[in-house]
Amino acid sequence: MSEGEAFQVRPIGTFDVDLEVPGDKSISHRAAMIAGLARGTSSITGFLPSEDCLNTLGAMQACGVKCRVLEEMEGFGPTSLEIEGRAMALSAPSAPIDCGNSGTGMRLLAGLLAGQAFGSELFGDASLSGRPMGRITGPLGEMGARIDALGDKEGCAPLRIHPSSLQPIRYELPVASAQVKSAVLLAGLFCDGVTTAVQPATTRDHTERMFEAFGVRITEEGNAISIEGRQVPEGREFHVPGDISSAAFWVVAAAVRPGARLVVRRVGLNPTRTAILDVIERMGATVIRRPVASAVGEAYGDVEIHGARLKGTELRREEIPNLIDEIPVLAVAAALSEGTTTIRNARELRVKETDRIATTLENLRAMGADVTEFEDGMEIRGGALRGAEVRSYGDHRIAMAFAIAGLSAEGETRVLDTACVRTSYPGFSQQLDAVVAERRGAESFALPIVPVVS
Ligand code: S3P
Repeated sequence: MSEGEAFQVRPIGTFDVDLEVPGDKSISHRAAMIAGLARGTSSITGFLPSEDCLNTLGAMQACGVKCRVLEEMEGFGPTSLEIEGRAMALSAPSAPIDCGNSGTGMRLLAGLLAGQAFGSELFGDASLSGRPMGRITGPLGEMGARIDALGDKEGCAPLRIHPSSLQPIRYELPVASAQVKSAVLLAGLFCDGVTTAVQPATTRDHTERMFEAFGVRITEEGNAISIEGRQVPEGREFHVPGDISSAAFWVVAAAVRPGARLVVRRVGLNPTRTAILDVIERMGATVIRRPVASAVGEAYGDVEIHGARLKGTELRREEIPNLIDEIPVLAVAAALSEGTTTIRNARELRVKETDRIATTLENLRAMGADVTEFEDGMEIRGGALRGAEVRSYGDHRIAMAFAIAGLSAEGETRVLDTACVRTSYPGFSQQLDAVVAERRGAESFALPIVPVVS
């Protein structure tokens, strides 16, 4: 995929697909960071070789962590690797660290680097340089960190982090954000005493699970999560399951199509991430979950979807953090359903890779949907979509959501500017090509994973 590349999508007839999606992005970021901090060597399988996660891996390498690649997805990067941890003793990076497009990368790394005896600098692309960093520099500053936000936009990246020693705090998060919670907990690992993050609603708990898997004790009382500082994670083997946010594109492609069937294998089923399945089920699709018991870390399993003529729904306030990244593709599902879908309490969408309320609705309107925009969400009156030329606006989830829209629209759809998909979903365009070509069966969708001898 190159800059300026587009998806060209035609409506498809049948959909009977069996596939796997690449590793979970949120979990891969955390695996790179916590394995890098650990004592001893960790072996990570299922790692997501997307630009976002490779930038985080690069950041850890810049701080002295050594990695050995065992397997690669051809043309993308490692899926299986050994990470030699630094037992909490990172070294100073020799140059500013590029976080690319990733809010998770930058915010979590800021937490991890805030309490070091060396300085560092984090920068990102134009989208990331416009996203709010005050939500982490605020609490980290309360802990004693000294971070300058150097961006043209106030409170935005690049971030210059000065050497500091931190004190623990109890921090009440003003927004339900796993990134902010994680930044505070990672910083808490580098100070004496107990740091607590109190979230206003449940958010994805991958940081807590990753810490526990690596032997770091976390305590939880309701929505208050505490970590005792100075614990040293222990290196281990860890498997990253498939990303349910990536699977969501195919889940919607199948769910909106009566008679369609989809099986996604070995996908993450962490309950703080599966609201997309609950909502699609509520809208009328059949969802069969086949969890595989997992001893440590993250739950995963196979999911089977049978499509139907869906009905509109109202998203509940507490569902929003659980499916925040799936809202663009859920909006596509809503536009193809009967009746009205209402999404409120989702103002956070305005500060993602793009303003996803604006970009989702812009594209839905271009495809003929009947929509209303709210400050904190949208209302979509379902019906049909017609093919159109739409843009990604540089946002991976917008690019993929509208490729899926094109599979069910009348006529041809072109999604412009799709290189951004590399930030989260290597292999998406190959899978899309296979679906559009109506080549079905597991073999057609096997991701090109090529072992590398090192
Ligand atoms: C993420 C948390 C979410 C999500 C993002 C990944 C994470 O952001 O939108 O794609 O890995 O912690 P917020 O926590 O800021 O809502």
